[in-house]
Amino acid sequence: MKIEEYKRRGTFGRRKPNECMRTIVTIIVGIVFGFFIGVSFPDISPPKLKLVPSIDAYLGDKNSGRSTQTILNVISVSRDNNSTKGRKLDPLEIFVSTNPRGAERLPPAIIASESDFYPRRLYGRPIEDLTFKPKYLVTFTVGYDQKDNVDQAVKKFSDNFTILLFHYDGRTTEWDEFEWSKRAIHISVPKQTKWWYAKRFLHPDIIAPYEFIFIWDEDLGVENFDAEEYIKLVKKHKLEISQPGLDPDSKGLTWQMTKRQEDLEVHKEAEEKPGWCTYPHLPPCAAFVEIMAPVFSREAWRCVWHLIQNDLVHGWGLDFALRKCVEPAYERIGVVDAQWIVHLGVPSLGNQGNGKAPWKGVRERCKNEWKMFQDRVLNAEKEYYKSVGVDNMVHEANWVTVDRIQ
Ligand SMILES: *[C@@H]1O[C@H](CO)[C@@H](O)[C@H](O)[C@H]1NC(C)=O
Ligand SMILES: *[C@@H]1O[C@H](CO)[C@@H](O)[C@H](O)[C@H]1NC(C)=O
Ligand SMILES: *[C@@H]1O[C@H](CO)[C@@H](O)[C@H](O)[C@H]1NC(C)=O
Repeated sequence: MKIEEYKRRGTFGRRKPNECMRTIVTIIVGIVFGFFIGVSFPDISPPKLKLVPSIDAYLGDKNSGRSTQTILNVISVSRDNNSTKGRKLDPLEIFVSTNPRGAERLPPAIIASESDFYPRRLYGRPIEDLTFKPKYLVTFTVGYDQKDNVDQAVKKFSDNFTILLFHYDGRTTEWDEFEWSKRAIHISVPKQTKWWYAKRFLHPDIIAPYEFIFIWDEDLGVENFDAEEYIKLVKKHKLEISQPGLDPDSKGLTWQMTKRQEDLEVHKEAEEKPGWCTYPHLPPCAAFVEIMAPVFSREAWRCVWHLIQNDLVHGWGLDFALRKCVEPAYERIGVVDAQWIVHLGVPSLGNQGNGKAPWKGVRERCKNEWKMFQDRVLNAEKEYYKSVGVDNMVHEANWVTVDRIQ
């Protein structure tokens, strides 16, 4: 082994003499070590075969073949890097730092970091379980009282969709009267909200196979909506986050942006009442959809899931922050006018509250959550800009005060 050769590689060139000495010792130890390994497994090849890929993966180096040098590198990296300090230098021990956090001790090829909602058989060959894999996911947060409405909505989604129902009233078997219920996934946790379920059960790694995710309320009129046609338009207009246009007769129609515009396929901006939009490219005039019937691309959802707060279960204010997940938001967020819905506004889960008038308590919490979410986002941004040394960052005051909501 020629030390000069290592010197010419430049890695060791700038070292001080005593460090150089240490390096030489390291190299010698490495050679002895490598020799020892070679001697330990003279004939049996399996351990050796395992050894090379694991170390290569460790170094992110696909170019195997010079195993002694590889071992030297491992030792050198381990010495230089504090994060690896204290770990045994046993090359048979697997540690792949590029693995998902916590799974570093597994060989990468066995790691299944993503999942799906595809039901499987209990028998036969696993590879033959799935003859068809739905590409899209639609979730409804439902109570049995809304069954007829939900039934109509589900029927607007083709077989290309996995159907997932979140039950907030504990009634699940009753839904089997509908033919589609048998192929749906049912998750039942009493008295929780859509965003509570979404945070717990729709982790981006769990729903990774689905290209688009519809996270819908139960009180939507879908007479003029078809999901396959909707997806065609979303793809055509490259919308990462979208919703169907709301019929002007919808209950509680608040924003111009989400109102259906006739004769259009899609719109990405709208005009609000004077003074409501400080910037035309920001909510509520653009880069904005509401939380009742949003549709996310897989990539956008990976970000949005992280934005959802565990304790702010109503999701109020989330719609104003969605834009932080896509770039440029005013082009990638839009409303599909050609496939539109009616918001029926049935206050179902709202009646599940506790306290005085149940409805009132829920409403109050919604508004408080909105304020809290807004504060958290602003503080997080301030903290970030401070940490990178940017002062006086103008935080666009694109938030609308709660009193504008009736
Ligand atoms: C130290 O470890 C980090 C990650 O844990 C890695 O990015 C870095 O390249 C390592 N440093 C050296 C000198 O290998
Ligand atoms: C590595 O460890 C040394 C002493 O053990 C310490 O002075 C140095 O700050 C550490 N470096 C990092 C990046 O943690
Ligand atoms: C499902 O998706 C495939 C591929 O995009 C398409 O050809 C088919 O028409 C879709 N099914 C329905 C019922 O629309």
